[in-house]
Amino acid sequence: MTTEVVQRTALLRISGLTIDTEPGGTSVRLVDGVDLTVAAGERVALVGESGSGKSVTARALMRLDGSLAIGGSIRLGDTEILAQTERRLAAIRGSRIGMVFQDPMGALDPLQTIGAQVSEPLRQRGVRKKDALRRAAEVLSELGVARAHERLGAYPHEFSGGMRQRVVLAMALIGEPEILIADEPTTALDVRVQQQVLNLLDEVTRERGLGLLLITHDLGVVAGLADRVAVMYSGRIVEDRPVRALFADPLHPYTAGLLAAVPRLDVQLARMTTIPGAPPSPALRPAGCPFHPRCPVAMDRCASETPSMTATADGGRRACHLDRGSRN
Ligand SMILES: Nc1ncnc2c1ncn2[C@@H]1O[C@H](COP(=O)(O)OP(=O)(O)OP(=O)(O)O)[C@@H](O)[C@H]1O
Ligand SMILES: [Mg+2]
Repeated sequence: MTTEVVQRTALLRISGLTIDTEPGGTSVRLVDGVDLTVAAGERVALVGESGSGKSVTARALMRLDGSLAIGGSIRLGDTEILAQTERRLAAIRGSRIGMVFQDPMGALDPLQTIGAQVSEPLRQRGVRKKDALRRAAEVLSELGVARAHERLGAYPHEFSGGMRQRVVLAMALIGEPEILIADEPTTALDVRVQQQVLNLLDEVTRERGLGLLLITHDLGVVAGLADRVAVMYSGRIVEDRPVRALFADPLHPYTAGLLAAVPRLDVQLARMTTIPGAPPSPALRPAGCPFHPRCPVAMDRCASETPSMTATADGGRRACHLDRGSRN
């Protein structure tokens, strides 16, 4: 347990992040004051139901949505992402941050060969074509693509779903990033292939000491892969704790609800529960704690006072008025 509370230098530090739809009509706050860090070599999972703001947060890290207004601070090492010109940002995207998204087909150009696409980040840095292709074949074979050198001339449609996700991972890794952001990297894959890709993520991040921000709505996948889990609800982080502590004793009723819905071998299907109701649309976020209308243990003050983030004894934090697990 002690290793889990050791403070490591933050590689990625998100502070007070706000994301608003661009004013023009009525501006809507999609992400409302998110703080989140990923240390070098640390694997952090960001979980929450559909619509909680996970993907807009991930995309903001690379400033991929030009139409959204981003506030607060996103620091990668000493670099403030929100202060970079588009040109400098493009360089950071290819090298310091690697990204893998849900749909590998959408991330690949159907008209370009696998070799051209995987080697592209190196070509942009001026590496000669022959050397870039050689490196592409090396990375692909490290990721389990058999006879990678011979397959550099293949096109995406000639690869299976799982193999395509390996190609996308190779594109993300070839520039030797400091951090990998993976947004639902296995959701589009069948169950058997999902596990292979998760194992691969586990291996590459461990071997390379790579920071990982793994985004998923499925708490089941994070247990074996993450060091820490941040739970997002309605554009805010409600709990952020070491993975074992969070699974053993969730301190936010929302986390407890998510955990109760995770299929477990030792629990009969009939006993599995889901959280009643649905998350609010960002335009209709309730006052106070945004979870209070669905919360089984809500008190009067939850409807009016927004709970602030407090430190927990295990080195985590949570935002809930329930007086449990706090440091003091
Ligand atoms: N470009 C955009 N303009 C306006 N609203 C957006 C935009 N992108 C996302 N949203 C809204 O922001 C909210 C958060 O969306 P987001 O895609 O981040 O959710 P998510 O947590 O990734 O969900 P999922 O698990 O379904 O992927 C949603 O209500 C969504 O409709
Ligand atoms: Mg998403």
